[in-house]
Amino acid sequence: MVMSLKGKRIVLGITGSIAAYKSAILIRLLVKKGAEVQVVITPAGKEFITPVTLSALSGKPVISEFFATGDGTWHSHVELGQWADLMIVAPATATTLAKMAGGMADNMLITTYLSMPPSVPIFAAPAMDLDMFVHPTTQRNLDQLKSDGVHIIDPVEGELASHLEGKGRMEEPENIVAMIEDYFIDGVHHRTEHKVTRGYHEATHNGDKKKILITAGPTYERIDPVRYIGNFSSGKMGFAIAEECAARGGEVLLIAGPTSLSVHHPNITRVDVESAQEMLDAALQAFPDVDGAILSAAVADYRPQQASGEKIKRDEEGAITLSLLPNPDIAATLGKIKKPGQRIVGFALETTNEEANALKKLKKKNFDLIVLNSLKDEGAGFGHDTNKVTIISRNGSKRSFELKSKEEVAKDIVDATFVAMLDNHSE
Ligand code: CTP
Repeated sequence: MVMSLKGKRIVLGITGSIAAYKSAILIRLLVKKGAEVQVVITPAGKEFITPVTLSALSGKPVISEFFATGDGTWHSHVELGQWADLMIVAPATATTLAKMAGGMADNMLITTYLSMPPSVPIFAAPAMDLDMFVHPTTQRNLDQLKSDGVHIIDPVEGELASHLEGKGRMEEPENIVAMIEDYFIDGVHHRTEHKVTRGYHEATHNGDKKKILITAGPTYERIDPVRYIGNFSSGKMGFAIAEECAARGGEVLLIAGPTSLSVHHPNITRVDVESAQEMLDAALQAFPDVDGAILSAAVADYRPQQASGEKIKRDEEGAITLSLLPNPDIAATLGKIKKPGQRIVGFALETTNEEANALKKLKKKNFDLIVLNSLKDEGAGFGHDTNKVTIISRNGSKRSFELKSKEEVAKDIVDATFVAMLDNHSE
């Protein structure tokens, strides 16, 4: 079995439906694929399947009450929100869907749902009788949840607990697991609901799309037709940020230096450039119309004074000297023309006095946030699929994150960016 969900932390919400027996199979499949599963069950759910079965399968105590009845330990729904990579409610009854849609936090499952940070995707697999499913109330609640960014896994047609035939059977666990795998493997461009990822942006600006400019990758500064000055930047971090912004409903303009990466989300417009000057020109043209810019490109600091039109021949006499001119600083240029309401997020790669230097850079370039990578951290920065960052804001507040995949880091960066976009007090 491929451990496609290795290390993924999944909160499984179970509610009071005959289909709760399928949750046991769901846990087994998720665990076999390498996921950690934490079950949160409603009081009604326990009438249909016992916590003993569920905890045996998941290898974790099942959470149901706000407090452990034995010793009064508080079960923190907030901590569950911090822990989870994904939450799925399966089966989701009409009542639970209504409570989710209306924010009726009268049990542990709903408080857990409400505590999920915007970056954590939520899935719900409804299960109910066909009349209940087609009822306008249920449909209205489903519409509300979709517009809140919840991925609804449509029930399938078949024989129902009432022995009636129709649409209302919970999707089979194998198919649910395949959807979760798709989500993690193929990432953001497979989120097909009309409002996809939940985000601060969607939570507060329903439907209104933020325009975001992103620079990514290296720049190449030509020496002659076959040689250049460049750096080892792969562009992965910037491309992951672009996908994440687009998945949350943003309109993204991605200005990319030379890289072999491709974009997936239809809301990303890509402009390919080669040199720092070309990147600056493209950025200056777009900047007046955007709400924010995330500047992840590793721009070459210098370029040859004169790019030779002909291939430079090897000089048998020995060394040659290249005269270099400083390149324009794209970030500082945009920082100077930034209008109230616009936000700029920059990056810093530091080796010593990391935080102090990053904060200095933030002020100098008029950023709102700066994402600090330390070269001292293994697995961070250029060429890796992982990154370890600290995000520092204008007022000096900072949040350090553990080493994660660049896709996960992108979520943290986009969360912080969207929060900064909402915060009008940081001007
Ligand atoms: N940047 C830019 N244009 C440049 C140089 C940098 O837009 N010509 C942006 C980068 O995209 C990044 C930030 O500015 O967001 C990095 O600033 P920089 O001064 O280059 O910092 P470091 O890369 O950390 O390097 P150094 O400390 O050596 O200056």
